[in-house]
Formats: sequence, structure tokens, C-alpha cells
Amino acid sequence: MKRSMLIIIYYWVRHLVRCWVSNLGCTQQKKDIMSSGDNQQSRALNKPTFTELQASALVESVFGFKVSHIQPLPSYDDQNFHVHISRTKDTTDGPLEYVLKISSSENSQNSDLLEIQNDVITFLQAAGFPTASVCHTKGDNTTSLVSVDSGSEIRSHTVRLLTYLPGRPIAEVPVSSQLLYEIGRLAAKLDKTLEKFHHPKLSVLRRDNFIWNLKNIPLLERHVDVLGQTRNREIVEKVIQLFKEQVMTKFGHFRECINHGDLNDHNILVEPSKSAFGDAGYEVSGILDFGDMSYGYYVFEVAIVIMYMMIESKDPVQVGGHVLAGFESIVPLTAEERGALFLLVCSRFSQSLVMAIYSCQLQPDNKEYLMITAKTGWKHLQRLFDTGQDAVEEIWFETAKSYGSGLSM
Ligand SMILES: Nc1ncnc2c1ncn2[C@@H]1O[C@H](COP(=O)(O)OP(=O)(O)O)[C@@H](O)[C@H]1O
Ligand SMILES: [Mg+2]
Repeated sequence: MKRSMLIIIYYWVRHLVRCWVSNLGCTQQKKDIMSSGDNQQSRALNKPTFTELQASALVESVFGFKVSHIQPLPSYDDQNFHVHISRTKDTTDGPLEYVLKISSSENSQNSDLLEIQNDVITFLQAAGFPTASVCHTKGDNTTSLVSVDSGSEIRSHTVRLLTYLPGRPIAEVPVSSQLLYEIGRLAAKLDKTLEKFHHPKLSVLRRDNFIWNLKNIPLLERHVDVLGQTRNREIVEKVIQLFKEQVMTKFGHFRECINHGDLNDHNILVEPSKSAFGDAGYEVSGILDFGDMSYGYYVFEVAIVIMYMMIESKDPVQVGGHVLAGFESIVPLTAEERGALFLLVCSRFSQSLVMAIYSCQLQPDNKEYLMITAKTGWKHLQRLFDTGQDAVEEIWFETAKSYGSGLSM
């Protein structure tokens, strides 16, 4: 090889090492700055912008895998890549496909939270849930903090490598009522199983001002301006008002638990059912994205699932009854919790729809991913609102009851 060529390669490698990868270990501040609604703007600005080449270099230097192919995956605040590896003498067995998760610099500052997310993923997998396996770095950690020179400043990002789970997002398949029931049941089992999860720093999951926790619906008030003077804004403002009057006042009656908090139709993967008797058509092959996990209430989880399962449904108002029946087969709701369900579903719609528009203003390039829920979401929220709490509850509760009497099974 020519000497000039060698010099170019030398400088290129040196540049890679200097600029992209400085493995600093993982001791960071404990402050939950990602929890604040005020930090949405800086969250967007701190989204990592690694190229595929840089991401491959990270996988090789931090995790010791030889990358054969890499492609970007959609993402909200963080950056995700689908990574294929080649066998080497050190990796003669194990999976060949992974997801590299590069946290935003905001999210990267809370190492305790990311560590707990990894531990929960591992804990749930051991309990039989289809969650990913968390890979260890060469230094035997599950996270690694890397530094990037962005030109004007050095930014730090936590990187993690998870196994790639099989299946397609549930958003892409026709969902039967039986599958809705199974999803409701899985959500309840997940929350119930997390009662047994212990960690010395569990209190970091009390994310008081986290904009995505359903407790914090009033925080949306500061963002409703993005809706202009529209009927959508009127509905959202009414939802916030009713939430304050009728839901917040009942918090003391709800049973607390750790919520996954984002069981949306892109965070649940499914594949054709293997069971000869399974009439759901599909079964869950992956539960993803524990980034919004926090302390909430059982009823929050079921409300979140109902809302996201309505998104692609041809019969959206019916969805709630099937999901509720599945959830209540594991965790029956109390009268107070059932009474809040309708407003909680409307609240989650409001949260998701307002934050999608707001986030879009900050990350216009990511519009397609950010607006997935909004495509049908406003229509569903308006329909729920126009139908009214009593009529919707009647549909949901009658459907759920029919499972008890065996009618819909
Ligand atoms: N372990 C995984 N296995 C398979 N696909 C994954 C995995 N992790 C992420 N993905 C894909 O990447 C998308 C975004 O990842 P996710 O962890 O949900 O991040 P975000 O918080 O940005 O939504 C998912 O909807 C899914 O399509
Ligand atoms: Mg996701």
C-alpha cells in the first residue's frame, strides 16, 4: 500500500477514535433532568446524530462485535440502529442481530435510570416476558458513556446494545379481539411482576414532573398553544379540566405500581401464533422501549394500552372492552379506577397528540415517526368525546362482562 494511502488511513482512524469514541465509564449525575416538561426543547436539540459508520465503530470498540451491516431505526429522543454482526473467533455463538441504542445527551445524564431500565428488561426476561437481552461491554458493564466532539462542544451519550427481537409492530397487523384481550392480560402481568422487582435506586422511577406520566396531564397546559384556536384545543382543554376535577382528586384511591408507561403499537412486536389452538392469529414476540417507565397506577397502564390499540382499529370504541377484560383477568380494577378509565384514555390521547405537534416543531425532520399516532388519533379522541363517558363505559364494561360469562371467549 502506498505511503500516502497509509497516512490517510492513519488520520481517518485517529479522527474516528478522537471524535467519536471516548469510553468514559458510567458515573454520572443523578438528577432526573429528563423528567421535566421544560426540558422538551433541549431534549430535541440533544438527540444524537451518529452516522452509520460512527455507530458501527462504537459497536466494535465498546462491545467487541464485528459489524457486517447497520441501518438506522426510527426513534423519538434517542438514536437506534439495527446491527448485524459477523462471526469472529470471539463470537462463535449468540445472536447475530442487535439494536444499538444511543441515548440523547439529556437522557444520558441519568445513569441510574438507564441502569434500572436494563435491569428491568433482564428481570422480565427471566420471568418469561419477551424482552431483549442486554449485552455487556468489553469492560463488563451494560452501559457505556461515549464522548463526541460536535464541533462546538463535547457531548456525552450512553450507549447500550440489546438483542434484536423477532416480529412486526402490532400496528402493522390486523388485531383480533382475542389479541386485544391477550395484550391487556400481558400489560397487567407485567405491572404485577414488577411488584417483585427490587433495586436500591428504585426511587429514580418516581419521575415527578415527567411529561409522559399520566399523573402530569396539567403540564400539557404550557403546550396547548401549538393547537391554535381549534376544536382540538377546546377538547384538550376540557380533558385537562376534567382530569383535574375528577381524576387527580381520586389518586389516593388508585393502586400504585411501576408502569411500562408506553405500550404503544410500535413497542409491541407480534409474530404469527405458533400454538395450534391459538385463535388470536398472532402472539407477542417482543416488548420494547422501557424509556418511559415510572411509578404510576395500574389503571394508567390499561388506559395507555387501550388508547394505542385504538389507533389502527376499524372499530375503535370496542377496543377498550377487550383490553379491559384481559387486564382484569389478572388485576381487576376497583370502582374508582374503572370510573377514571374513560378520562385517562382521553388524557393519553391529549398527551400524545399535543406532544407530537410540539416535538415536530423541534424535530421537523422526524415528522413521520412523531406523527404516527396523530394520523387517526384526533378522530378517535373527538369520537370518544362526542359519544360521551356514559355511553363509552357501557360499551367497555358490557364487553368486559361478557368475557366473565364466557360469551366473547
Ligand atoms: N430490541 C429490538 N428488537 C427489534 N426491534 C427493535 C428493538 N428495539 C427497537 N426496535 C425497533 O426500533 C423502534 C424504536 O425503538 P424504541 O426502543 O421503541 O425507541 P423510541 O423510544 O425511540 O420509540 C421500535 O419501534 C422497533 O421498530
Ligand atoms: Mg418506541
